[in-house]
Amino acid sequence: MHSLFGSRKSRHHIKYNNISPMLPIHFAPLQGYTDSTYRMIHSKLAGGVDVYYTPFIRWEGFRKRETTDGRTVKGDMRGKDVRDIEKVNNQGIHLIPQIICGNTDELNHLSDMIAEQGYSEIDINMGCPAPMQTKLKRGSGLLPHPDLIEKMVGEMEKRKDIRYSVKIRLGLEDANDWMAFIPTLNDAPIQHITLHPRTGRQMYKGDVNMCAFGEFYAECRKPLIYNGDVKSVSDIEDIARDFPQLAGIMIGRGLLARPTLAREYKDGKEWEPERRREIVMAMHEHMLNFCTTKYKVDSQILLHIHSFWEFHEDALPRKVWKKIMKAGSMKNYLEAVREV
Ligand SMILES: Cc1cc2nc3c(=O)[nH]c(=O)nc-3n(C[C@H](O)[C@H](O)[C@H](O)COP(=O)(O)O)c2cc1C
Repeated sequence: MHSLFGSRKSRHHIKYNNISPMLPIHFAPLQGYTDSTYRMIHSKLAGGVDVYYTPFIRWEGFRKRETTDGRTVKGDMRGKDVRDIEKVNNQGIHLIPQIICGNTDELNHLSDMIAEQGYSEIDINMGCPAPMQTKLKRGSGLLPHPDLIEKMVGEMEKRKDIRYSVKIRLGLEDANDWMAFIPTLNDAPIQHITLHPRTGRQMYKGDVNMCAFGEFYAECRKPLIYNGDVKSVSDIEDIARDFPQLAGIMIGRGLLARPTLAREYKDGKEWEPERRREIVMAMHEHMLNFCTTKYKVDSQILLHIHSFWEFHEDALPRKVWKKIMKAGSMKNYLEAVREV
Protein backbone atom coordinates (compact mmCIF):
# COMPACT_ATOMS: atom_id res chain seq x y z
CA MET A 1 0.00 0.00 0.00
CA HIS A 2 1.45 3.35 -0.97
CA SER A 3 1.38 6.46 1.19
CA LEU A 4 -1.30 8.83 -0.03
CA PHE A 5 -1.59 11.38 2.71
CA GLY A 6 1.75 12.39 4.21
CA SER A 7 1.99 12.36 7.98
CA ARG A 8 -0.83 14.47 9.45
CA LYS A 9 -1.32 13.57 13.16
CA SER A 10 -4.70 12.00 13.87
CA ARG A 11 -7.10 13.45 16.42
CA HIS A 12 -8.66 9.99 16.63
CA HIS A 13 -5.53 8.09 17.63
CA ILE A 14 -5.34 7.11 21.28
CA LYS A 15 -2.05 7.25 23.14
CA TYR A 16 -0.84 3.84 24.28
CA ASN A 17 1.85 3.53 26.93
CA ASN A 18 2.88 7.07 25.95
CA ILE A 19 5.00 5.52 23.23
CA SER A 20 3.09 5.36 19.99
CA PRO A 21 -0.38 6.34 18.94
CA MET A 22 -2.57 3.27 18.60
CA LEU A 23 -5.65 2.93 16.45
CA PRO A 24 -8.68 1.34 18.10
CA ILE A 25 -9.31 -2.14 16.69
CA HIS A 26 -12.87 -3.17 15.84
CA PHE A 27 -13.74 -6.84 15.38
CA ALA A 28 -15.86 -7.07 12.22
CA PRO A 29 -19.16 -8.94 12.46
CA LEU A 30 -19.22 -12.27 10.63
CA GLN A 31 -22.54 -14.08 10.49
CA GLY A 32 -22.04 -17.67 11.71
CA TYR A 33 -18.68 -16.95 13.38
CA THR A 34 -18.62 -13.97 15.75
CA ASP A 35 -21.57 -14.85 17.99
CA SER A 36 -21.59 -14.09 21.72
CA THR A 37 -19.80 -17.35 22.60
CA TYR A 38 -16.93 -16.55 20.25
CA ARG A 39 -16.80 -12.91 21.36
CA MET A 40 -16.57 -13.87 25.04
CA ILE A 41 -13.89 -16.49 24.46
CA HIS A 42 -11.95 -14.09 22.25
CA SER A 43 -12.10 -11.16 24.65
CA LYS A 44 -11.05 -13.27 27.66
CA LEU A 45 -8.22 -15.20 26.03
CA ALA A 46 -6.92 -13.15 23.11
CA GLY A 47 -8.12 -9.60 23.77
CA GLY A 48 -6.75 -6.39 22.26
CA VAL A 49 -10.06 -5.54 20.59
CA ASP A 50 -11.73 -2.25 21.50
CA VAL A 51 -15.15 -2.78 19.93
CA TYR A 52 -17.11 -5.88 18.93
CA TYR A 53 -20.23 -5.99 16.72
CA THR A 54 -22.98 -8.56 16.47
CA PRO A 55 -23.57 -10.17 13.09
CA PHE A 56 -26.47 -8.34 11.43
CA ILE A 57 -29.90 -8.60 13.02
CA ARG A 58 -32.86 -8.52 10.64
CA TRP A 59 -36.54 -7.79 11.06
CA GLU A 60 -38.78 -10.71 10.17
CA GLY A 61 -42.17 -9.32 9.18
CA PHE A 62 -43.89 -12.73 9.12
CA ARG A 63 -43.20 -13.53 12.79
CA LYS A 64 -45.83 -12.86 15.46
CA ARG A 65 -44.96 -11.13 18.70
CA GLU A 66 -46.79 -10.38 21.94
CA THR A 67 -46.60 -6.73 23.10
CA THR A 68 -46.23 -5.70 26.74
CA ASP A 69 -49.95 -4.80 26.82
CA GLY A 70 -50.90 -8.30 25.64
CA ARG A 71 -51.65 -7.66 21.94
CA THR A 72 -50.34 -9.91 19.18
CA VAL A 73 -48.62 -7.96 16.42
CA LYS A 74 -46.71 -8.90 13.30
CA GLY A 75 -42.91 -8.70 13.05
CA ASP A 76 -40.10 -9.72 15.39
CA MET A 77 -36.39 -10.37 15.76
CA ARG A 78 -35.22 -13.99 15.76
CA GLY A 79 -34.95 -15.44 19.28
CA LYS A 80 -31.35 -16.39 18.50
CA ASP A 81 -30.52 -12.73 17.74
CA VAL A 82 -32.17 -11.54 20.98
CA ARG A 83 -30.08 -13.99 23.01
CA ASP A 84 -26.96 -12.89 21.14
CA ILE A 85 -27.30 -9.30 22.38
CA GLU A 86 -28.48 -10.01 25.93
CA LYS A 87 -26.14 -8.17 28.29
CA VAL A 88 -25.58 -11.28 30.38
CA ASN A 89 -24.05 -12.97 27.32
CA ASN A 90 -21.75 -10.06 26.53
CA GLN A 91 -20.18 -9.06 29.81
CA GLY A 92 -17.06 -6.93 29.88
CA ILE A 93 -16.94 -5.99 26.21
CA HIS A 94 -17.94 -2.91 24.23
CA LEU A 95 -20.59 -4.41 21.94
CA ILE A 96 -22.43 -2.57 19.19
CA PRO A 97 -25.45 -4.46 17.86
CA GLN A 98 -25.64 -4.35 14.08
CA ILE A 99 -28.90 -4.27 12.12
CA ILE A 100 -29.76 -4.64 8.45
CA CYS A 101 -32.80 -2.77 7.15
CA GLY A 102 -34.27 -1.77 3.80
CA ASN A 103 -36.79 0.80 4.98
CA THR A 104 -37.49 3.13 7.89
CA ASP A 105 -40.08 0.82 9.49
CA GLU A 106 -37.50 -1.94 9.85
CA LEU A 107 -35.00 0.60 11.16
CA ASN A 108 -37.42 1.82 13.82
CA HIS A 109 -38.70 -1.61 14.91
CA LEU A 110 -35.17 -2.95 15.33
CA SER A 111 -33.96 0.21 17.05
CA ASP A 112 -36.86 0.01 19.55
CA MET A 113 -36.16 -3.62 20.41
CA ILE A 114 -32.41 -3.12 20.75
CA ALA A 115 -32.88 -0.01 22.90
CA GLU A 116 -35.17 -2.13 25.14
CA GLN A 117 -32.18 -4.43 25.76
CA GLY A 118 -30.26 -1.46 27.15
CA TYR A 119 -28.17 -0.41 24.14
CA SER A 120 -27.62 3.18 23.00
CA GLU A 121 -25.45 2.40 19.96
CA ILE A 122 -26.48 0.64 16.73
CA ASP A 123 -24.49 -0.03 13.58
CA ILE A 124 -26.38 -0.17 10.29
CA ASN A 125 -25.22 -2.70 7.72
CA MET A 126 -25.09 -0.99 4.32
CA GLY A 127 -22.50 -3.37 2.94
CA CYS A 128 -23.85 -6.93 2.88
CA PRO A 129 -23.48 -8.23 -0.69
CA ALA A 130 -25.80 -11.29 -0.37
CA PRO A 131 -28.49 -11.13 -3.10
CA MET A 132 -31.15 -12.29 -0.56
CA GLN A 133 -30.55 -8.98 1.27
CA THR A 134 -29.64 -6.62 -1.59
CA LYS A 135 -32.85 -7.42 -3.50
CA LEU A 136 -34.76 -6.08 -0.46
CA LYS A 137 -32.65 -2.89 -0.64
CA ARG A 138 -30.80 -4.02 2.47
CA GLY A 139 -27.01 -4.03 2.94
CA SER A 140 -25.17 -2.82 -0.16
CA GLY A 141 -28.58 -2.89 -1.92
CA LEU A 142 -29.15 0.50 -0.27
CA LEU A 143 -26.11 2.17 -1.80
CA PRO A 144 -27.55 3.05 -5.25
CA HIS A 145 -30.50 4.74 -3.47
CA PRO A 146 -29.28 7.97 -1.85
CA ASP A 147 -32.93 9.03 -1.36
CA LEU A 148 -33.55 5.97 0.83
CA ILE A 149 -30.37 6.60 2.81
CA GLU A 150 -31.59 10.17 3.32
CA LYS A 151 -34.94 8.89 4.66
CA MET A 152 -33.12 6.63 7.11
CA VAL A 153 -30.93 9.51 8.24
CA GLY A 154 -34.17 11.49 8.81
CA GLU A 155 -35.33 8.78 11.24
CA MET A 156 -31.94 8.68 12.97
CA GLU A 157 -32.20 12.42 13.56
CA LYS A 158 -35.50 11.91 15.41
CA ARG A 159 -34.07 9.36 17.84
CA LYS A 160 -32.24 10.87 20.75
CA ASP A 161 -31.80 7.50 22.52
CA ILE A 162 -29.52 5.91 19.89
CA ARG A 163 -26.15 6.85 18.40
CA TYR A 164 -25.89 5.24 14.99
CA SER A 165 -22.91 4.25 12.87
CA VAL A 166 -22.88 2.80 9.35
CA LYS A 167 -20.83 0.07 7.69
CA ILE A 168 -20.68 0.58 3.95
CA ARG A 169 -19.00 -0.47 0.71
CA LEU A 170 -18.12 1.82 -2.19
CA GLY A 171 -21.32 0.86 -3.98
CA LEU A 172 -23.45 -2.05 -5.13
CA GLU A 173 -22.35 -2.48 -8.77
CA ASP A 174 -20.68 0.88 -9.26
CA ALA A 175 -17.60 1.85 -7.19
CA ASN A 176 -18.74 5.49 -7.49
CA ASP A 177 -22.13 5.08 -5.74
CA TRP A 178 -20.63 6.65 -2.60
CA MET A 179 -20.20 10.00 -4.34
CA ALA A 180 -23.99 10.48 -4.37
CA PHE A 181 -24.60 9.63 -0.70
CA ILE A 182 -21.50 10.97 1.06
CA PRO A 183 -22.98 14.49 1.49
CA THR A 184 -25.92 12.88 3.36
CA LEU A 185 -23.64 10.85 5.62
CA ASN A 186 -21.41 13.87 6.25
CA ASP A 187 -24.44 15.73 7.65
CA ALA A 188 -25.98 12.74 9.43
CA PRO A 189 -25.94 12.26 13.22
CA ILE A 190 -23.68 9.21 12.98
CA GLN A 191 -20.70 8.49 15.19
CA HIS A 192 -18.55 6.75 12.61
CA ILE A 193 -18.47 5.22 9.14
CA THR A 194 -16.73 1.93 8.42
CA LEU A 195 -15.77 1.52 4.77
CA HIS A 196 -14.92 -1.79 3.12
CA PRO A 197 -13.50 -0.57 -0.21
CA ARG A 198 -15.09 -3.12 -2.54
CA THR A 199 -18.43 -3.08 -4.35
CA GLY A 200 -21.22 -5.47 -3.35
CA ARG A 201 -20.85 -7.17 -6.74
CA GLN A 202 -17.24 -8.05 -5.83
CA MET A 203 -18.42 -9.93 -2.72
CA TYR A 204 -15.11 -10.69 -0.93
CA LYS A 205 -13.04 -11.27 -4.06
CA GLY A 206 -10.61 -9.18 -6.05
CA ASP A 207 -8.41 -6.45 -4.62
CA VAL A 208 -9.60 -3.86 -2.14
CA ASN A 209 -9.74 -0.50 -3.93
CA MET A 210 -7.27 1.58 -1.89
CA CYS A 211 -7.38 4.40 -4.40
CA ALA A 212 -11.15 4.80 -3.98
CA PHE A 213 -10.67 4.48 -0.20
CA GLY A 214 -8.25 7.43 -0.39
CA GLU A 215 -10.82 9.51 -2.30
CA PHE A 216 -13.54 8.67 0.22
CA TYR A 217 -11.15 9.48 3.09
CA ALA A 218 -10.51 12.89 1.61
CA GLU A 219 -14.27 13.65 1.35
CA CYS A 220 -15.44 12.07 4.60
CA ARG A 221 -16.11 14.40 7.55
CA LYS A 222 -17.10 11.69 10.03
CA PRO A 223 -14.65 9.51 11.98
CA LEU A 224 -13.70 6.85 9.43
CA ILE A 225 -12.78 3.22 10.07
CA TYR A 226 -10.94 1.14 7.46
CA ASN A 227 -12.03 -2.47 6.84
CA GLY A 228 -10.72 -5.11 4.45
CA ASP A 229 -8.05 -7.81 4.05
CA VAL A 230 -5.98 -6.83 7.11
CA LYS A 231 -3.95 -9.89 8.13
CA SER A 232 -0.84 -8.80 9.99
CA VAL A 233 0.57 -6.18 12.37
CA SER A 234 2.39 -4.58 9.46
CA ASP A 235 -0.88 -4.34 7.45
CA ILE A 236 -2.37 -2.36 10.37
CA GLU A 237 0.70 -0.17 10.67
CA ASP A 238 0.78 0.53 6.91
CA ILE A 239 -2.85 1.65 6.88
CA ALA A 240 -2.39 3.76 10.03
CA ARG A 241 0.59 5.46 8.39
CA ASP A 242 -1.11 6.02 5.02
CA PHE A 243 -4.33 7.36 6.53
CA PRO A 244 -3.32 9.18 9.69
CA GLN A 245 -6.78 10.66 10.30
CA LEU A 246 -8.43 7.24 10.61
CA ALA A 247 -10.61 6.59 13.66
CA GLY A 248 -9.91 2.86 13.71
CA ILE A 249 -9.35 -0.37 11.84
CA MET A 250 -11.95 -3.11 11.58
CA ILE A 251 -10.70 -6.65 11.09
CA GLY A 252 -12.76 -9.76 10.37
CA ARG A 253 -11.20 -12.79 8.71
CA GLY A 254 -7.72 -11.68 9.78
CA LEU A 255 -8.73 -11.93 13.45
CA LEU A 256 -10.52 -15.25 13.00
CA ALA A 257 -7.36 -16.64 11.41
CA ARG A 258 -5.08 -15.03 13.96
CA PRO A 259 -7.06 -14.22 17.12
CA THR A 260 -4.07 -12.51 18.80
CA LEU A 261 -3.60 -9.97 15.99
CA ALA A 262 -5.08 -7.01 17.88
CA ARG A 263 -3.01 -7.85 21.00
CA GLU A 264 0.15 -8.17 18.90
CA TYR A 265 -0.51 -4.76 17.31
CA LYS A 266 -0.97 -3.22 20.74
CA ASP A 267 2.22 -4.93 21.92
CA GLY A 268 4.02 -3.25 19.04
CA LYS A 269 5.40 -6.54 17.70
CA GLU A 270 4.40 -9.85 16.17
CA TRP A 271 4.38 -12.76 18.61
CA GLU A 272 6.32 -15.98 18.23
CA PRO A 273 4.22 -18.77 16.63
CA GLU A 274 4.27 -20.82 19.85
CA ARG A 275 2.78 -17.98 21.92
CA ARG A 276 0.03 -17.48 19.31
CA ARG A 277 -0.63 -21.21 19.19
CA GLU A 278 -1.13 -21.40 22.96
CA ILE A 279 -3.92 -18.84 22.80
CA VAL A 280 -5.57 -20.49 19.81
CA MET A 281 -5.52 -23.86 21.59
CA ALA A 282 -6.94 -22.36 24.79
CA MET A 283 -9.73 -20.72 22.77
CA HIS A 284 -10.37 -24.01 21.02
CA GLU A 285 -10.68 -25.85 24.33
CA HIS A 286 -13.35 -23.42 25.52
CA MET A 287 -15.20 -23.58 22.21
CA LEU A 288 -15.14 -27.39 22.20
CA ASN A 289 -16.43 -27.48 25.79
CA PHE A 290 -19.24 -25.16 24.79
CA CYS A 291 -20.14 -27.27 21.75
CA THR A 292 -20.07 -30.58 23.60
CA THR A 293 -22.34 -29.13 26.30
CA LYS A 294 -24.78 -27.58 23.83
CA TYR A 295 -24.94 -30.30 21.18
CA LYS A 296 -25.49 -33.94 22.00
CA VAL A 297 -24.66 -35.62 18.68
CA ASP A 298 -21.08 -35.77 17.40
CA SER A 299 -22.08 -34.66 13.88
CA GLN A 300 -23.58 -31.47 15.33
CA ILE A 301 -20.56 -30.83 17.53
CA LEU A 302 -18.26 -31.28 14.52
CA LEU A 303 -20.36 -29.00 12.34
CA HIS A 304 -20.03 -26.17 14.84
CA ILE A 305 -16.43 -26.67 15.90
CA HIS A 306 -15.33 -26.79 12.26
CA SER A 307 -16.33 -23.13 11.89
CA PHE A 308 -13.71 -22.28 14.55
CA TRP A 309 -11.01 -23.47 12.13
CA GLU A 310 -12.54 -22.35 8.85
CA PHE A 311 -10.42 -19.21 8.47
CA HIS A 312 -7.22 -20.85 9.75
CA GLU A 313 -6.51 -22.31 6.32
CA ASP A 314 -3.48 -20.10 5.67
CA ALA A 315 -2.29 -20.14 9.28
CA LEU A 316 -1.93 -23.95 9.52
CA PRO A 317 -0.03 -26.48 7.45
CA ARG A 318 -2.44 -27.39 4.62
CA LYS A 319 -2.39 -31.11 5.55
CA VAL A 320 -3.36 -30.43 9.17
CA TRP A 321 -6.10 -27.96 8.25
CA LYS A 322 -7.62 -30.38 5.73
CA LYS A 323 -7.50 -33.24 8.26
CA ILE A 324 -9.38 -31.11 10.81
CA MET A 325 -12.01 -29.91 8.34
CA LYS A 326 -12.57 -33.39 6.90
CA ALA A 327 -12.77 -35.25 10.23
CA GLY A 328 -16.08 -37.11 10.31
CA SER A 329 -15.76 -38.52 13.84
CA MET A 330 -14.74 -37.04 17.17
CA LYS A 331 -11.83 -39.48 17.37
CA ASN A 332 -10.41 -38.34 14.01
CA TYR A 333 -11.11 -34.72 14.85
CA LEU A 334 -9.26 -34.77 18.18
CA GLU A 335 -6.37 -36.61 16.58
CA ALA A 336 -6.14 -33.93 13.85
CA VAL A 337 -6.28 -31.06 16.37
CA ARG A 338 -3.35 -32.58 18.31
CA GLU A 339 -1.23 -31.92 15.21
CA VAL A 340 -1.84 -28.16 15.30
C1 LIG B 1 -18.95 -15.34 6.34
C2 LIG B 1 -19.04 -13.84 6.46
C3 LIG B 1 -20.08 -13.28 7.20
C4 LIG B 1 -20.19 -11.88 7.31
N1 LIG B 1 -21.21 -11.33 8.08
C5 LIG B 1 -21.31 -9.97 8.19
C6 LIG B 1 -22.31 -9.35 8.99
O1 LIG B 1 -23.15 -9.99 9.64
N2 LIG B 1 -22.32 -7.99 9.04
C7 LIG B 1 -21.40 -7.22 8.36
O2 LIG B 1 -21.44 -6.00 8.44
N3 LIG B 1 -20.45 -7.79 7.62
C8 LIG B 1 -20.37 -9.13 7.53
N4 LIG B 1 -19.35 -9.67 6.81
C9 LIG B 1 -18.30 -8.79 6.26
C10 LIG B 1 -17.20 -8.57 7.29
O3 LIG B 1 -17.67 -7.89 8.42
C11 LIG B 1 -16.05 -7.73 6.68
O4 LIG B 1 -16.57 -6.51 6.24
C12 LIG B 1 -15.38 -8.44 5.51
O5 LIG B 1 -15.09 -9.79 5.83
C13 LIG B 1 -14.10 -7.72 5.10
O6 LIG B 1 -13.23 -7.58 6.20
P1 LIG B 1 -12.01 -8.63 6.47
O7 LIG B 1 -11.24 -8.71 5.18
O8 LIG B 1 -11.24 -8.02 7.60
O9 LIG B 1 -12.64 -9.95 6.79
C14 LIG B 1 -19.24 -11.04 6.68
C15 LIG B 1 -18.20 -11.63 5.94
C16 LIG B 1 -18.10 -13.00 5.82
C17 LIG B 1 -16.96 -13.59 5.02
